Amino acid sequence: LAALFNKIFLFGYLIVFCISCNYNTEEITYAEHIAPIVNSHCIGCHQPNEGGPFNLISYNDLAKRSKMIAHVTKIKFMPPWLADPNYSQFANQNILSEEQIKLFQLWHKQGAKLGDTTKHKLKPIVLRKNNKNYLELDIEPVFIKGNHSDNFFYIKVPLEIPQDSFVRMVEFIPGKPKLVHHVNGHLILLPPDDTSNIFDTRRIVDIHSPDFEKQLKEMGLYNNPFEKRIHSAVNYLPGVRGVLYPQGIGGYPLSQKAYFVLKDIHYGPSDKDQIDSSKLRIYLGSKPPERPILETMLGTNGISKINPPLLVKAGKIQKFTTYAFIPEDISILTINPHMHLLGKSFKAFAVKPNGDTIPLVYIPKWDFRWQYYYTFKKMLKIPKGSTIFVEAIYDNTTQNPNNPYKPPRNIGERMLYGGSSMRTSDEMLQFIISYLPYKKGDENTSLQ
Ligand code: HEC
Repeated sequence: LAALFNKIFLFGYLIVFCISCNYNTEEITYAEHIAPIVNSHCIGCHQPNEGGPFNLISYNDLAKRSKMIAHVTKIKFMPPWLADPNYSQFANQNILSEEQIKLFQLWHKQGAKLGDTTKHKLKPIVLRKNNKNYLELDIEPVFIKGNHSDNFFYIKVPLEIPQDSFVRMVEFIPGKPKLVHHVNGHLILLPPDDTSNIFDTRRIVDIHSPDFEKQLKEMGLYNNPFEKRIHSAVNYLPGVRGVLYPQGIGGYPLSQKAYFVLKDIHYGPSDKDQIDSSKLRIYLGSKPPERPILETMLGTNGISKINPPLLVKAGKIQKFTTYAFIPEDISILTINPHMHLLGKSFKAFAVKPNGDTIPLVYIPKWDFRWQYYYTFKKMLKIPKGSTIFVEAIYDNTTQNPNNPYKPPRNIGERMLYGGSSMRTSDEMLQFIISYLPYKKGDENTSLQ
């Protein structure tokens, strides 16, 4: 019997060993294995004029960093993607499979070999191109001090066009892509009888300036409930430009007089003084969108209360929730979870009237640097009578490396322009949903 057990044990061991050693015997090369992964998962950001700190285009770019690449892919720091793919899937997701991660490890271990480029022809790498049917606006240049700290600003970008029009998409084009980390901006539409001079005001304020609130007033932001404000009209993250939905969906009107408020624009730390001159590109449509996108927001400044009210106590890990009832059938296109530096995890889901759950997004490890807008692969129907729930956990202990205060202090909400700020002394809990009134067949409409 003992001998039999021994055999079974040995046999089992051999099977497990062989599964895990599948690749160990094979030579992993750049040409055959690595280049295809890098081309589809990395160079979107790691190319000139994009946010990645260096290029990952040539064999040499990769070979000299094989150790670092093996590390950042193993710990899933790169490619940056926070949402758990086992919970929900998105059109714009960028995730490596376990097998691809393993290939990076082995490639490094085996000496980062080039391989046979005649047998495995390297595909030409397509860098980002521009087409030219847009209106381009210069954004006020921003001076960034070389003081190794993050910087946050509000910037106003006014515009005047000869006649009312339609926007299909707005792109933020960073002047210094290695420095700009993220941007979120509203578009404010002014009525035809507006006589204010939108050009002759302050254009830029530093969120951490002691005069912040006074300077906001000098910017001449209206901030009244009657103004026509298009939320999140422009968003940017390294590697992420505008979202273009299928023809006829999305877009919004553009009045003759209007302005963007970038609230906020986040610059990463710099070791030298620099000036960033970024741009906005507005892609106009020829006719009004058949199905303009609607937006709703849970939490801070939104349609639903946060329970308990958002005050994260010093030294505590706390959970906050918020929920909203959905009175009509809707089709969700894109969602955006939003917290600041104390965020730890974020989960959102809908519960249908029959009790079934529709998972929306789960971010097990929040990172405020990657404020993605998550677009579903296909429109997601949420039936009338459902409730959307959000559960957010905040970590205000010293264990949180992003905690802005040592020792920790109580941190809560504060209502500033548009209800948001990236002040380190403020927290937020928001869940923004872009949706359409449901139409039959929406659940089969691809957003890829
Ligand atoms: C969405 C844009 C984006 C994608 C996609 C991306 N990177 Fe990055 N990468 C960045 C940025 C930005 C940084 C700078 C660090 C930061 O901002 O967090 C970075 C940093 C790095 C670093 C340096 C890390 C360090 O600690 O200094 C490595 C190595 C790297 N990326 C490798 C990769 C690899 C390999 C891939 C593909 C598997 C990839 N990246 C995909 C944007 C991206």
